[in-house]
Amino acid sequence: MARLKTAVLISGRGSNLEALMRACAEKDFPAEIALVISNRADAGGLDHAKRAGIASAIVPHKDYPSREAFEAALTKTLEAAGIGLICLAGFMRLLTASFVEHWRDRMINIHPSLLPAFPGLDTHARALAEGVRFVGCTVHFVRTEMDHGPIIVQAAVPVLPGDDEATLAARVLTAEHRAYPLALRLVAEGRVKVVGERTEIAGTSGGGAILLNPADDRRA
Ligand code: GRF
Repeated sequence: MARLKTAVLISGRGSNLEALMRACAEKDFPAEIALVISNRADAGGLDHAKRAGIASAIVPHKDYPSREAFEAALTKTLEAAGIGLICLAGFMRLLTASFVEHWRDRMINIHPSLLPAFPGLDTHARALAEGVRFVGCTVHFVRTEMDHGPIIVQAAVPVLPGDDEATLAARVLTAEHRAYPLALRLVAEGRVKVVGERTEIAGTSGGGAILLNPADDRRA
């Protein structure tokens, strides 16, 4: 079966791009990364793409007079490559409603919180300030409202005593690297159906277990 032609849009380090590349390199994975686009020439993720021989393009937002012109260049590049799905992975540009609508249900994003909690920036600092016991990440279809849209996969990790932003971010990032490839696989297999503003996923079972944090010592 033809693999889903996917583009990954980045602005920086690209560790999620690497995780997606690793997954796509597996035999029988239903998606391929056909293109990596960065809006910044200095994005570390571009090196990962080059090393793996994946086509990449730099579309610097600063070269365009408006957001619309920048996005028109993105869409042109994406469509020239026959892209069927966009994965935003640390892509740090706000997208206009018309771009989002053009790619509706064909563009997914990963956010480092359990949405709808903590959309936006500084998620880990805000989670620590609130004293929540679990944090995590969310992969979702992109809608006009930032960090909002039908949820595909979430992964939860505990907040541990002594955590700071860095330790928490690292724990969540490890979860991101599992959640994003899973979401891409489910979408590429055609198992994710958007119903209203939620998704239904064929043939999966829930995680099932109850997670307690702190653990119930009497039962340890
Ligand atoms: C990740 O934490 C992702 O959830 C957020 O931006 C970060 C990108 O990291 N949207 P990387 O470039 O994939 O390493």
